[in-house]
Amino acid sequence: MDRVVRSLSEGDVVALPTETVYGLAGSIFQDDAIRTIFSVKGRPLIDPLIVHVGDFDQLDGVAIRDPRLDVLANAFWPGPLTLVMKKRPVVSDLITAGKDTVAVRMPQGLFRQVLQRLQVPLAAPSANPFGYLSPTEAIHVERHLGNRIGLILDGGPCERGIESTILDLTTPMPTVLRLGPVSVEALQAVLGVPVLTKTSECHGAQTAPGMLKKHYSPQTPLTLFDDPSSLPSILTERVAVVLQQRPPSFTPETHTYWLSEQGKLEEVAQNLFALLQKIDRKYTHIFIQQSPPSGLGLAINDRLQRAASKTP
Ligand code: TXA
Ligand code: MG
Repeated sequence: MDRVVRSLSEGDVVALPTETVYGLAGSIFQDDAIRTIFSVKGRPLIDPLIVHVGDFDQLDGVAIRDPRLDVLANAFWPGPLTLVMKKRPVVSDLITAGKDTVAVRMPQGLFRQVLQRLQVPLAAPSANPFGYLSPTEAIHVERHLGNRIGLILDGGPCERGIESTILDLTTPMPTVLRLGPVSVEALQAVLGVPVLTKTSECHGAQTAPGMLKKHYSPQTPLTLFDDPSSLPSILTERVAVVLQQRPPSFTPETHTYWLSEQGKLEEVAQNLFALLQKIDRKYTHIFIQQSPPSGLGLAINDRLQRAASKTP
C-alpha cells in the first residue's frame, strides 16, 4: 500500500482492485498519468474515464452535486454505481473527453483505502487492453499489461466481476448508460421515478465505449445460445461449451464448463470474465449460454452480446 500510494502521488499509473473489475489508476491532477492510461490501454482519447472518489469532499471537488445524489449514495456507495454529473473545471478535458460532465463513483475495498490515504481522486478505466475481456484477477492485468506498468496491487478476485452500472443524472430523465450490478429495478425503487435505459450502440464511443457493439471480447470466436439442445450435436475437442450452471449429466469428451454450480447470477457475473480469460485461445470456438433476461441477467447478457459481436 505504501508503494502504491507513493507511486500514484509521483504521477505513476498503478493497477488497483475494485469490487467490480481491476482498474488502471492515475491522479486526476497529473495529465501525464492520464495520458499514460490511454496509451497503455490503447484507448481512443474520445472515451472519457471514470473518476473514483474516497469520500464526499473528493466528490464535491470534481462534480456539482445532483439533488438525487444523497439518496443514491446512501443506497449504493461505496459500490458498483457510477453517476454522471456536471463537472467542476478542475477535471481536465483529457479525463472527460471534452464533455462538461464527469462520471464519478466511490468504489469499495482496497481501491477506496488508497483514495483515502492519497486524498486525491483517481481516474481509472478497467485495466484491460481496449476492447479485450475485463480483468477480474491481478494475473489478468499482469498477463496483458504487465510489461507496460510498474505496479499491480493484488486484492484477489473481484467480488462482482462485471463493471459498475452507469447512471446519467444530466439527462431530463435519469438514464442508465451501462447495465451492471445495480439493476434498473433497484435504481427505480430508490429514486421513486422511472429510469430509462439507453445502452444501444447508436450512442457510439462518444457516450460510452462500453456501449460499442463489440467490446469485452475474447480472441476465440464466441457464439451465444439459450437452450443446450440447440447446440450442434457433434462438437470436436477444440470446442468449449460454457453453461450457466452444472448440467445434470455431461459427456466428458466435450469440454464443458459452468459459471455457477446452481446458476446463481451473482456467481455467474463473478466468474464470467475469469473463465473466458482462462479458456481464451485454448479452443477454436466457444459456445456460451445466456442468462435469464432480467435483473443482473440483463447486465451479464449485455457483456456476452458485445463479446460475441462480430461488427466493431
Ligand atoms: O466498474 C467500473 O466502472 C470500472 C472500475 C475500474 O471502476 N471502470 C470501468 O471503466 O469500467 P471503463 O473506462 O472501462 O468504462 C467507463 C465507461 C466508458 O464506457 C465511458 O465512456 C463512460 O464510462 N463514461 C465516462 N465518463 C462519461 C461521461 N461523462 N458521460 C458518459 N459516459 C461516460
Ligand atoms: Mg472497460
